Amino acid sequence: MNKIYSTSIRALPTCVLDRSNLYLQTAEIIMLKVRGSRVLRTSIESIISTRHMTLYVKRMRKEYGNLDKVEMSIWECCELLNDVVDESDPDLDEPQIEHLLQTAEAIRKDYPDEDWLHLTGLIHDLGKVLLHPSFGGLPQWAVVGDTYPVGCAFDKSIVHHKYFEENPDYHNPAYNTKYGVYSEGCGLNNVMMSWGHDDYMYLVAKENNTTLPSAALFIIRYHSFYALHRSGSYKQLMNGEDVENLKWLEIFNKYDLYSKSKVRIDVEKVKPYYLSLIEKYFPAKLRW
Ligand SMILES: [Fe+2]
Ligand SMILES: [Fe+2]
Repeated sequence: MNKIYSTSIRALPTCVLDRSNLYLQTAEIIMLKVRGSRVLRTSIESIISTRHMTLYVKRMRKEYGNLDKVEMSIWECCELLNDVVDESDPDLDEPQIEHLLQTAEAIRKDYPDEDWLHLTGLIHDLGKVLLHPSFGGLPQWAVVGDTYPVGCAFDKSIVHHKYFEENPDYHNPAYNTKYGVYSEGCGLNNVMMSWGHDDYMYLVAKENNTTLPSAALFIIRYHSFYALHRSGSYKQLMNGEDVENLKWLEIFNKYDLYSKSKVRIDVEKVKPYYLSLIEKYFPAKLRW
């Protein structure tokens, strides 16, 4: 584990490194004691990481929100994603593009008229390119795993909640109350979420002026926000539009989790359909 954390620390921006070095050392000690599967360890490592620190989220949103890393199309990104491995995924032998197309095709079968939802299935995990060397090769804990709001109290429904006691935000009176820096019904798009592939892909889609409906952006940004869509927490921060969009996220989530069947997708056969959707909702080249 020492090796993993020394890599992770180097990947952190300097301003975050100063404040969170002690926290990462504590995290390292905890991880040495954790016994269990790769998936469990990845999930705990993600919880006790700086991705759930307000300071880190602000820094990463600024750095990656510039979208000055790469220019490429949505489909090129789908192909690039095949080069990365998501350690939190129990099904490592399947290429990422299989998961994307299985999700999209399963939705298409049940909701043939909602073409925006098919495309959302295809692109929801593209933010995992943050793991790729051309995007700085962020460590697994900074890209995958459950996400939550930062800047207000961590809800008790969050899995492995006890590890938040090590997080400096947990002890900060500005951040550890029910509303924290937010107000009732402020709308989730005004709430900072822990950094990861979800928030990054949301920024990419929004800043490249996608014409996808707001429900699609909602699904992309909150699909790992299990405390919301599984436990119903944090509803005090939602506005009317969030309440409507949550219905679509609940539908989507079933396909994200259960589409990992062994049904093989003929990529070349379905590719023209998805290229036509990409053309409808996105520019030919996007800034990433
Ligand atoms: Fe995801
Ligand atoms: Fe997914």
